[in-house]
Amino acid sequence: MVTEEEEKKEEGVIKKKYEFLEDLPGIGPATAQKLRELGFHTVESLAMATARELEPAGISEKKAFAIIDAARSSISVSFIRADELLKMRQSVLRLTTGSKALDKILDGGLETQTITEFYGEYGSGKSQLCHQLCVNVQLPPERGGLCGAALYIDTENTFRTERIVQMSHHLGLDPEQVVKNIIYAEAYTSDHQMFLLDNVDDIIKQNNVKLIIVDSLTAHFRSEYLGREMLASRQQKLNKHMHKLIRLARAFNLVAVVTNQVMAKPDVFFGDAVHPVGGHIVGHTSHTRIYLRRAAHGPVRIARLVSSPYLPEGEEIFKITENGIEDVSEEEKSRSRGR
Ligand code: GTP
Ligand code: MG
Repeated sequence: MVTEEEEKKEEGVIKKKYEFLEDLPGIGPATAQKLRELGFHTVESLAMATARELEPAGISEKKAFAIIDAARSSISVSFIRADELLKMRQSVLRLTTGSKALDKILDGGLETQTITEFYGEYGSGKSQLCHQLCVNVQLPPERGGLCGAALYIDTENTFRTERIVQMSHHLGLDPEQVVKNIIYAEAYTSDHQMFLLDNVDDIIKQNNVKLIIVDSLTAHFRSEYLGREMLASRQQKLNKHMHKLIRLARAFNLVAVVTNQVMAKPDVFFGDAVHPVGGHIVGHTSHTRIYLRRAAHGPVRIARLVSSPYLPEGEEIFKITENGIEDVSEEEKSRSRGR
């Protein structure tokens, strides 16, 4: 008689769970230390690594494959059947933006396991949205949150705790608690920005981080890599950075948000005369892109869902107020139509 337990084992349902790097076969304390220095602090991050990335820790290719395999089996990342893929999709969680209208074009809010990019001109509300998300992520699921912490990588020194306090008050949250759950890092250069993300997996795990923000993704890259001859290396680095972010989003089922500036397209006569920095690489790796722009005047902003793996394009408006990101009331809408 085969027991249910044995059956499950055979089906691979029961997976061996490795808690720490040292628990994985073939990793001793010295190798674990080297891996940590390379930015691999958790079993989850090893599951998403490539054999080549482990080479600098003195790990042979064959051994690297075995380690990565063991890490993958531990967190159940391997070939999966399509019905299981569906299950993985079902584990996608959603985070509210604070505006029902904006949530609507996103089919309920920002998704975990993918990257959402907000791009737009100066003052279009990218950083304000990021601030709001840091507060919202701490809400319970019934209020559109993920009961998690936020990690904010700031490249332009625009993060303001005072703003978080205002937004928390409005949502009836204790600002002191809310600010404690936002882990902040200022990135001084593009290399520093990449370094921060490469070394963050332990912090994510220990603090239950459910939202990572990189604001702005491209500013450093844009100012450091000037001219055509540097374009290829810039794109290569951006590509690596974005892939790291996706891997973290998948491994920890978290929401990843990046912001991006726009450049004028001098050769466009019709349609949008601006496009986001970073070209195809950022475009292909960020799964959902939202273009933000100001309305003619006042606090109203227009958000357009420009690309998404499965949602149709859509446009909605919201406003930025003392309280944070809010919906525009019907009355305000009809007033502005009358103008
Ligand atoms: P760059 O980073 O410069 O590209 O712009 P951004 O898109 O990040 O703009 P940001 O999100 O910083 O938006 C700034 C705008 O938000 C301001 O011009 C204000 O209109 C609005 N805003 C910011 N803080 C407050 C606030 O405390 N109260 C109100 N009512 N509006 C605010
Ligand atoms: Mg900004």
